[in-house]
Amino acid sequence: MTEPRTRRLLVTGAGGQIGTKLIARAAAHGFAAIGTTRAELDITDRAAIDAAIASLKPDIVINAAAWTAVDRAESEPDLAHEINAHAPGLLGAACDRAGIPLLHISTDYVFDGSAARPWREEDPLAPLGVYGKSKAEGEAALRRATENHIILRTAWVFSPCGSNFVKTMLRLAAERDELTVVDDQKGSPSSAIDIARVLLTLARLSLDRQVAGEAPPRGTWHFCNAGVTSWYEFARAIMAGAAARGAPSARVRPIPTSAYPTPARRPENSALDCTKLTHDFGIVPRPWTEALDDVLDRLLTPDH
Ligand SMILES: NC(=O)c1ccc[n+]([C@@H]2O[C@H](COP(=O)([O-])OP(=O)(O)OC[C@H]3O[C@@H](n4cnc5c(N)ncnc54)[C@H](OP(=O)(O)O)[C@@H]3O)[C@@H](O)[C@H]2O)c1
Repeated sequence: MTEPRTRRLLVTGAGGQIGTKLIARAAAHGFAAIGTTRAELDITDRAAIDAAIASLKPDIVINAAAWTAVDRAESEPDLAHEINAHAPGLLGAACDRAGIPLLHISTDYVFDGSAARPWREEDPLAPLGVYGKSKAEGEAALRRATENHIILRTAWVFSPCGSNFVKTMLRLAAERDELTVVDDQKGSPSSAIDIARVLLTLARLSLDRQVAGEAPPRGTWHFCNAGVTSWYEFARAIMAGAAARGAPSARVRPIPTSAYPTPARRPENSALDCTKLTHDFGIVPRPWTEALDDVLDRLLTPDH
């Protein structure tokens, strides 16, 4: 009996927080992963995308590339637009021509944050800043380019690698006695490791259903770790975790957003409702506190 061919997964933006974790975990989900960085495949370059798909022959693509500098997007809207709004359509069209699915990542910042409950997939998009607007437009471009797509919206991503809130807080704790952190923006911190696991599960399911002659999952789902918190409470948990591991920690003082003006306006409540993902695929997000413990172990505990 011949072994089934290992499925080939192309991950764009492979050097980012989520991209790195997709590459690290792909084999455990039965994929041979090919990761491309921006230098190897610029997702704004239509010809380069076509050439990559023709030569690498992936069975499925996950786009983990994006412009993620929320504040800098306000002063460089054209670049943010090209990468976040335009490129997903290029990738979608190329995957459509090749007859393969594209999984894409979007953000809680497509919502305006005004709801009193976590946001559902079908809620109206009303981004407050250039980054959120560019991501909302990217979703629309992808939907126009191919039906064969999955959009996974996530939020407040942290990871042992790349730049993120957890690493910033740990760095500042080594430099200062007290940190001031906004307490009136709420959301759900989400581990890049958990997000990668969900994307790989959906990628495998897509191909399995295709092979079985069943309709593959298509559409938009939300995933974030369970629990809603503020940046202030998140910072306090990071400091408690650092102290428990013998690392420098600082006092954290809550401040209102008005005391920490940033170029981009951010949603007050950007928590995502993940009920649809649980209902459709049985995926139950673990609490963000548990995911944070794992990342702190990796960052601060020797031998991890
Ligand atoms: N970070 C968050 O809190 C957050 C929250 C919600 C949703 N998301 C979404 O999650 C996805 C991944 O985010 P992340 O946190 O993993 O981002 P990240 O760490 O900033 O990684 C993004 C990667 O994309 C690459 N990239 C940028 N422009 C590119 C281009 N034109 N062609 C190819 N690669 C390009 C970057 O490379 P360079 O470093 O060389 O530029 C970087 O390696 C994004 O879609 C983002 O919108 C993130």
